[in-house]
Amino acid sequence: MRVFVTGGAGYVGSHCVRELCNAGHDVTVFDNLVGGHRQAVDPRATFVAGDLSDTALLGRTFAANRFDAVMHFAALLDVNESTRKPLPYYRNNVAYTVSLLELMQIRGIARLIFSSTCATYGVPPSAPITEDMPQHPINPYGRTKLAIEWALRDSAAAWGLGATALRYFNAAGAASDGTIGEDHRPEYHLIPVVLEAALGKREGIRIFGTDYPTRDGTCVRDYVHVEDLAVVHRLALESQPPGVFCYYNVGTGRGVSVRELVDAAREVTGADIPASPAPRREGDPPELYADPAKITRELGWRPAHTDIRTTIETAWRWHRSHPQGYGE
Ligand code: UFG
Repeated sequence: MRVFVTGGAGYVGSHCVRELCNAGHDVTVFDNLVGGHRQAVDPRATFVAGDLSDTALLGRTFAANRFDAVMHFAALLDVNESTRKPLPYYRNNVAYTVSLLELMQIRGIARLIFSSTCATYGVPPSAPITEDMPQHPINPYGRTKLAIEWALRDSAAAWGLGATALRYFNAAGAASDGTIGEDHRPEYHLIPVVLEAALGKREGIRIFGTDYPTRDGTCVRDYVHVEDLAVVHRLALESQPPGVFCYYNVGTGRGVSVRELVDAAREVTGADIPASPAPRREGDPPELYADPAKITRELGWRPAHTDIRTTIETAWRWHRSHPQGYGE
């Protein structure tokens, strides 16, 4: 298939682009390189530098290519920042996605895979989280992603869009060959922050909240390996039924607390990694982990990485060999 990938130079996007190229798909990456890195883009893909606000460039790119499908990763994704600066989140994640959908409708492209998030569930009534639980996001980031899920559902009913929302839990790890990985600037995600401390790039880490109603008082998350996420995207693309809105939780089904993760990172790296308690971070739900039964049943997907240590090992390989990430 000829696939147009927004945000294909980003962390999850770049791993998915590689998976699509490996499977023989013809990939065009569209990325403004604000959060992404040109070096992360598979050389087999065509690269277009551009911003989703540039509807003229998008229009020209669509006119010059006959895309069969779109994979849409480009978004702002810092939960905490979204609580302080919601409007850029609504503009980037909602308004620009609506423009993209309008263009797809005009061009007759009726297949989309969308990066949604477990943040659309807010504080779930129980764990693990199933897809039929209510979606009541507690931060602007989650609300922007839910708004697009609604737009996809309505577009499926109104004009035959076939779309899948993949509600990821926490993307983690790096390519098993160590060549691409996570490089956010500034970095705020737990695993890279912990590994930067192991490398001596930070003095230690802060644990945001030690009084949550969880087994050790710290937040519990489901860390799904980025290469497993890449496989899910390809499977969802290849099996997308026409005119239907599909939605899946994408996680391992295992919850790991912040303290457990730091302990696992100490084992993997052999470093001390000083960790000090800090106040809760606004926008963080206490416990999020997936029930992945639906995606296993319907798409046949099972994560290859289910042990947090092996996931951290792949991230460690990347961080050790790329202490400056992708460089300047
Ligand atoms: N944390 C710390 N110290 C740090 C960094 C993080 O204690 O220095 C904690 C956070 O409070 C949270 C957990 O580690 O409890 C994971 O935090 P991340 O920032 O790594 O990830 P989030 O869970 O906040 O966010 C991720 C994705 C979002 C997605 C969200 C769903 O970045 O896109 O998962 O929960 F929406």
